[in-house]
Amino acid sequence: MRPVLLLVVAFTAHVSARFTPDWTSLDARPLPSWYDEAKLGIFIHWGVFSVPGFGSEWFWWHWQGQQPPDQKCVDYMSQNYPPGFSYPEFAPQLHAQFFNPEEWADIFKASGAKYVVLTAKHHEGFTNWGSPNSWNWNSVDTGPHRDLVGDLGEAVRNRSLHYGLYNSLYEWFHPLYLKDKKNGFKTQEFVMHKLLPEIYNMVVRYRPEVIWSDGDWEAPDTYWNSTELLAWLYNDSPVKDTVVTNDRWGAGCACKHGGYYNCEDKYTPGKLPKHKWEKCTSVDTLSWGYRRNMKMKELMDLPTIIKDLVQTVALGGNYLLNVGPTPDGMIPAVFEERLRSVGAWLEINGEAIYASKPWRVQTENTTAPIWYTSKGTTVYAFITTKPLKPAVQLLEPRTSSSTKVTLLGDPKPLPWSPVHPNAGLTVLLPELPYTPAQVWTLKLEDVQ
Ligand SMILES: *[C@@H]1O[C@H](CO)[C@@H](O)[C@H](O)[C@H]1NC(C)=O
Ligand SMILES: *[C@@H]1O[C@H](CO)[C@@H](O)[C@H](O)[C@H]1NC(C)=O
Ligand SMILES: *[C@@H]1O[C@H](CO)[C@@H](O)[C@H](O)[C@H]1NC(C)=O
Repeated sequence: MRPVLLLVVAFTAHVSARFTPDWTSLDARPLPSWYDEAKLGIFIHWGVFSVPGFGSEWFWWHWQGQQPPDQKCVDYMSQNYPPGFSYPEFAPQLHAQFFNPEEWADIFKASGAKYVVLTAKHHEGFTNWGSPNSWNWNSVDTGPHRDLVGDLGEAVRNRSLHYGLYNSLYEWFHPLYLKDKKNGFKTQEFVMHKLLPEIYNMVVRYRPEVIWSDGDWEAPDTYWNSTELLAWLYNDSPVKDTVVTNDRWGAGCACKHGGYYNCEDKYTPGKLPKHKWEKCTSVDTLSWGYRRNMKMKELMDLPTIIKDLVQTVALGGNYLLNVGPTPDGMIPAVFEERLRSVGAWLEINGEAIYASKPWRVQTENTTAPIWYTSKGTTVYAFITTKPLKPAVQLLEPRTSSSTKVTLLGDPKPLPWSPVHPNAGLTVLLPELPYTPAQVWTLKLEDVQ
C-alpha cells in the first residue's frame, strides 16, 4: 500500500501546484529568487506628461480632472499655450528624437541596478508601445512613432538586467472606465474591453519580469479581475516562473495581497517587515515624471540616496530609484550623474548589498549610526556618518577568536577588541577613504 499512497500524494502535490484565482492561493506563491537578490532597480516615468513637464506626471488630472483644478497648472497652460489647447495635443511633441536605448541601458547597468521598470502606461492611458487597444493614443501611432517599451527592453536585457513594466489599471478619462465608475463598478466594460486584453497582450509581447501595478485604489480587486489575471500570470503566462508583482491590485490590497509589497509610495518601515517589500522613490523629490523647472535643491543628493538604499536593504527591502526622462528621450545629466555615482559606491560596497539578508539586528547607534546586513556568519556594518573618533563601537555582534574585520575596498585586517567577553567590539578605523556617498562598510567575518 505504502508506495502507491506516496505516488498519489506526489501526483496531487503536482496538480495543486497550479494557483487558483483567490488570494489564499496567490499570496502563498514563493517570490522568484532573483528579485530579493537584486536589491536595486531603476524606475522610469516617461509618457505624454513629460511634454508639459510641469508639476508632475499628474499634470492632466491637476489641470482638468480634479475639482477645483490646480491654479498653477491652469495658469501655466493659459500663459504658454493657445486657448483650447487640449492634453492629447501634447502627444505629437513626445518626439523622443534623442532616445538611444543602448545609452539608457548603459547608464542603468553602470548604476549597479539589476532590474529596470518602465511605465508602459500611466494614468493618462497613453501606451509606450503599439497597443491595439489604445488606438491613436500610443507611441507608435503618434509622438515618436516607435515601440519604446520593446526597444528599451531589448537593450536592457542585452545587459543581463531584468525588465519590468509599470501598468496603471485605471485611466483618468477613459470613457468606459468613467461609465463603470458611474455604475459603482458593478459593470466591467473597461476591464473586459480595454484593460485585460491590453495587459495580456503586453505580457505575451514583452515578457516583463515585474508587473508593477498601480492606479487600483478606486475599485475592488473583483472589479479589476486581479486574481484571475494573477493566476494566469503564475500558471500559464510566458513569464510564469520568473515574474514578480507588487500589491496594487484593488482597494485594500496594498501591504496585504499580491507578490512583494510597496504599501505606499516611498514607504519607509520603522522595523523589519515580515513580508518582502520594495521602496520606490524618486531622485526628484517632487515628481516621478520630468519637470522642466526642477531645481538642484529639490533632488536627493548622493549620501541621501545611499543611506536610503542601505536602510531599505537592511530592513529586507528592494530599492526602486526613479528618474524622469525628457520628451526628447534624454536622461537629464544630473540623474545620470546620480545613477553612475550609486554604481561607483556599489562597485566597492555591493558585496554587502546584493543577495544579502537582513541580520538578527538591523541597526544600532552607539558611537555612530550603523545598519547591518548579513550573509551567513559574515555580517556587514554600514557606517552612515563619519565617526568623530578613529574608532567605532558595535555592541550587537557576538565575536569569537577567529573574528576578522576589514573595510570593504581594503583587504588589510583591522585591529579590534571585545567590549564584553564574546560580545561587542571596538574597531580601530584607518583613515576612511574619500567617498562622495559618505557611507563605509565594515565586513565582520565569523560573528554571530
Ligand atoms: C548583447 O548584444 C550583443 C551584440 O548583438 C551580443 O553579442 C550579446 O550576446 C548580447 N548579450 C546578451 C546578454 O544578450
Ligand atoms: C473575470 O472574473 C470572473 C469571475 O470573477 C470570471 O468569470 C471571468 O472569466 C474573468 N474574466 C477574465 C477575462 O479574466
Ligand atoms: C545617533 O546618536 C546620536 C547621538 O545620540 C544622535 O544625535 C543621532 O541622531 C543618532 N542617529 C540616528 C540615525 O539615530
